[in-house]
Amino acid sequence: MTVLVTGGAGYIGSHTCVALVESGYDVVVVDNLSNSDVTMVESVVELSDHSIGFYEVDICDEKALESVFKEQSSQGCPIEAVVHFAALKSVSESFEKPKLYHANNVGGTEALIKVMKSNGVEKLVFSSSCTVYGQPEEMPVDESAPFLLAESPYGETKQKCEKMISKSGLTAAILRYFNPIGAHSSAKIGELPIGVPNNLIPFLCQVVAGLRPELIVFGDDYPTEDGSCIRDYLHVCDLADAHVAALENHSKSIRAYNLGTGKGTSVLEVIASFENATGEKVPFKLGPRREGDIISIWANPSRAQAELKWTAKRTIKEALGDAWRWQKELVSK
Ligand code: NAD
Ligand code: WQD
Repeated sequence: MTVLVTGGAGYIGSHTCVALVESGYDVVVVDNLSNSDVTMVESVVELSDHSIGFYEVDICDEKALESVFKEQSSQGCPIEAVVHFAALKSVSESFEKPKLYHANNVGGTEALIKVMKSNGVEKLVFSSSCTVYGQPEEMPVDESAPFLLAESPYGETKQKCEKMISKSGLTAAILRYFNPIGAHSSAKIGELPIGVPNNLIPFLCQVVAGLRPELIVFGDDYPTEDGSCIRDYLHVCDLADAHVAALENHSKSIRAYNLGTGKGTSVLEVIASFENATGEKVPFKLGPRREGDIISIWANPSRAQAELKWTAKRTIKEALGDAWRWQKELVSK
């Protein structure tokens, strides 16, 4: 079965391509390389020892997308399912360019749905985010928690896409990721942050690699045990496996699934765990809160466990060790 992976040259997409190939799927990637490099697709091929199709196409370009579907059919490998990662993902950039985020993320998803329907492709796995929940009232958060006012234009695009997919008539698994971290244990693929990373782990790794002077812990006066924020960090390879599980086990028309470990970890605990995993010291300073940060969130992943037969298997220590190995690989390139 041929699966189209939009955004497959990106961080989570590349790891998912490996997991899909390892599970016996034929993979075709569509990516406009706006936040990635084609070498990542080459590394996926090398890692999985299997060819994958690659089209440098913007998913907002309906005509170009249509020709990908047609080309695949004419080659006798018609697309039968889509795993849809392609989106812009920077929360801070989305405040500066809300229209671009809307056009790319919502417009791109709209175009994809149209082309899927006109080609009779019904199965979709969509990358959503725990950001749709805002700061939930009850923890751990399950899928019945309401969407609160989106905290960023980026978050709003995920809420809008989810609503659009719900009305599309497709068979769709909506995967709400918590905080994906780490890299493939081979250190051949990982996250490629462009510019100054916003997210904790790539920033921390760059500090330890000597590329930045220190990590600022955004807030130590939150109402948590050690005063720093709490998140649910999961290994990107566990996340990749969840997409395979969704393709294989999701059968209901539309269903949302939380993907996390079910365990919350504070920023200070992440630092301690990184030091423990790598033997490296993390230069850090306590600083002011970052605007817009929620205090704490972690998943109740029991629906994914029961229905997708998926559970996060790797530890945070493993994920941090893999993130560090990948960072060292990047520096050596
Ligand atoms: P990423 O930026 O590494 O990957 C996204 C890929 O999509 C990139 O390769 C980019 O070039 C491509 N892309 C963007 N717009 C495109 C377009 N119009 N046409 C074709 N390709 C396009 O990001 P990621 O971390 O791998 O995230 C993948 C998905 O998961 C995104 O939808 C993101 O919103 C979602 N998500 C990510 C996180 C996270 O923390 N990384 C958390 C929750 C949800
Ligand atoms: C994690 C924790 C920071 C950097 C974002 C998006 C969300 C989702 C995941 C896509 C927070 C703290 C960070 C630093 C720090 N993405 N921190 N110093 O904020 O949970 O979520 O990524 O959907 O939508 O908002 O992730 O990695 O930015 O931060 O102290 O230099 O690390 O305050 O508590 P976040 P993050």
